[in-house]
Amino acid sequence: MTPYRERREKLAQQMGAGVVVVPTAQEQLRNRDSHYPFRHDSYFYYLSGFPEPEAVLVMLVGENTKTILFCREKNLEREIWDGYRYGPDGAREAFGFDEAYPIDALDQMMPKLLADQPSLFFDLGADASWDTRVVGWLNSVRNEARNGVTAPGGIRDVRALLDEMRLIKDAHELDIMRRGGRLSGGAHQRAMQATQPGRWEYEIEAELLHEFRRHGAQYPAYTPIVAGGANACVLHYVSNNAQLKDGDLLLIDAGCELDGYAADITRTFPVNGKFSAVQKDVYELVLAAQAAAMTKVQVGCHWNEPHEAALQVLVQGMLDFKLCAGSVDSVIESGDYRRFYMHKTGHWLGMDVHDAGEYKRGGAWRQLMPGMMLTVEPGFYIRPDEKVPERFWNIGIRIEDDVLVTDGACEVLTNAAPRSVAEIESCMKAKA
Ligand code: GLY
Ligand code: MN
Ligand code: MN
Repeated sequence: MTPYRERREKLAQQMGAGVVVVPTAQEQLRNRDSHYPFRHDSYFYYLSGFPEPEAVLVMLVGENTKTILFCREKNLEREIWDGYRYGPDGAREAFGFDEAYPIDALDQMMPKLLADQPSLFFDLGADASWDTRVVGWLNSVRNEARNGVTAPGGIRDVRALLDEMRLIKDAHELDIMRRGGRLSGGAHQRAMQATQPGRWEYEIEAELLHEFRRHGAQYPAYTPIVAGGANACVLHYVSNNAQLKDGDLLLIDAGCELDGYAADITRTFPVNGKFSAVQKDVYELVLAAQAAAMTKVQVGCHWNEPHEAALQVLVQGMLDFKLCAGSVDSVIESGDYRRFYMHKTGHWLGMDVHDAGEYKRGGAWRQLMPGMMLTVEPGFYIRPDEKVPERFWNIGIRIEDDVLVTDGACEVLTNAAPRSVAEIESCMKAKA
């Protein structure tokens, strides 16, 4: 059984009777008649594996359970210009749907498919044009009331069920994410070896993209951050257009999207290949914070424990460096640490880089379970400030890895990217 069919069956078991409607993403114009590269909707792809735009998955669940795909028809003219289309018959065969119809038949068929169904499972509010269409179908069904037809009594959020499923990665997903993590780690290694004073941030970005693509990754999972010197203290810096200076650090946050799954890695290293004393001190503090967080990525811990562990270590470092005053508890209590550490230590990772899934349940941080995938990414960012000794200025460090919760110690998927001071310095010395 394909993983997609397995997921559809699992969803059907959980939802009770009704109709699921999940459209894929819409193609987006970039300028005039040029499009952005098409990227499927994650929920649609999770349940279908179908790669084309203009497609909708419909699942009827109840006595007569079946899965229907609406997609583009075969069209020789369009296929000569734009490439292969499965067409409904080809899609049904190749992807194992029970039925498939042309996308142009959707508006006409949906009212019939919704008639006498107890519930509609649809992601209301995600896209206004789809909301309007779905309401149109419902009104068509309601107009049949005098003929004894009933419309679905409620619209339920299909995401709530799918988010829970997506949170626990299956074997198919783990295989892709392990490969994506390795591949992205290799790209960071390549970037380290390409870096030297005088090169430009975009040149290093090009090395990352080259490495992603030559291994078959379709895109970067998000816009890469290649931030030299002071730019590392801009958390979402994406200009990537400055020249790299001797004595500065370079922070790179980049991961590929491989077969629909994101990797998310950050490494920070010296442009000239050798950490200065103060850079090394701050770097090793962040590394220690990451190690402390990783010990809490295990069953029996809740979502926020890795963050809390990292924060303890970072704040102790802020006191040792005399950047903050007081005790660890008082600095955490007052939030003074946020001058240097203003983000959380991680997020769920999967098809989306900030992946689906709740962080709290019933008001409490949720427990970590085997199969959950998250990032562990402590950082330390020191902007010029007269209250801070000048030797610390413009040091911006983040260390980010992708980590799987297992029955035992966590599994790190991104070890291919050099992490310790010794590993980084020896990688950079052994230039390719
Ligand atoms: N690259 C985005 C993040 O680290 O969350
Ligand atoms: Mn991240
Ligand atoms: Mn990142």
